[in-house]
Amino acid sequence: MSSVEAMSQVRGMVAEILGDDDSGHDMGHIDRVYAIGTRLAGNLSEPVDTETVSLGLLLHDVDDYKIVGREQAAELTNATEIMRSVGVDPETQVTVRGIIATMGYSKALRGVRPATLEGQIVSDADMCDAIGASGVVRALMYAVSDKGSGVVFDREVWPIVDITAEQYNGNGTSHTTDSFVNHFFEKLLKLKNMMLTEPGRQEAKVRHQYMVDFLHTYFKDENAPEWSAFLDDYLNREDG
Ligand code: ADP
Ligand code: NI
Repeated sequence: MSSVEAMSQVRGMVAEILGDDDSGHDMGHIDRVYAIGTRLAGNLSEPVDTETVSLGLLLHDVDDYKIVGREQAAELTNATEIMRSVGVDPETQVTVRGIIATMGYSKALRGVRPATLEGQIVSDADMCDAIGASGVVRALMYAVSDKGSGVVFDREVWPIVDITAEQYNGNGTSHTTDSFVNHFFEKLLKLKNMMLTEPGRQEAKVRHQYMVDFLHTYFKDENAPEWSAFLDDYLNREDG
C-alpha cells in the first residue's frame, strides 16, 4: 500500500470515530490540523519523518478523554488499532503513541511536552488550530455545546489567569470561571508562548493577534472598558 493510500484509510477510520463529536474534535479540526502541520513541517530547516508527522496529525484526538473516557484515553486503544490495521511498522507506532501521549494543553500545564521534532510539529499544529479565527469558532461552539458552560460572557466573573492543570481539568471539562471569553485568558492567549518550533511560532503570532483584535472589538461592543484594560494588562504580563 502506498503511503498516500494508507493515510486516506487512516483518515477514514478517524472520521468514523470522531463522526458526531461536538466538543471541538470534529473532522474539520483534523483536516485543518493536518494541513497546518504539513505546511509547518515543510517550513522547517531540518528534515522530519513525514509518515510519523502525518499519523500524529490524523490520530492525535481519537483517544481524547472527552470522546472515549479517561481509562481508554490512557491506553490509546483507537490509535493503536488503526495503525496496526494499516500495517504501520512497530517502531513508528511507538513513536506516534509517544507523541499523542505527551501533547495537549493540560499536559503542558504539568510540564509534559513532546520530545521529538515530529511531535513538536504535531503539537504546534494542534495548538494553532485552537487559536486564530478557527480558535474563536471552536471555543464558541464548545461553550454552547452540552459539554461547555453555556456562558458566553459574564462581566462579573473574572478568569483564573494563572490556572493550574488541576483547576483547568477540575471536574471533567469545566470549572467555576468557565465561559467563552474566559477561555481566552485561561488557555488560548497562552498558546503562542507554548509553540515548540520556529514555523509554529510564526504561525501562532498572526493567529494570536487576530484573537486580540477580536477581544478588543468585542469588549467595545459590550461597553466593557474594564475588560479591555484587563486584556492589555494580561498581554503586557505574558510578554514581559
Ligand atoms: P485540542 O484538540 O486543541 O487539544 P481541547 O480538547 O482542549 O483541544 O478542546 C477542544 C476545543 O474546544 C479547543 O478549541 C478548545 O480551545 C475548546 N475548549 C476547550 N475547553 C473549552 C471551554 N471550557 N470553553 C470554551 N472552549 C473550550
Ligand atoms: Ni486536537
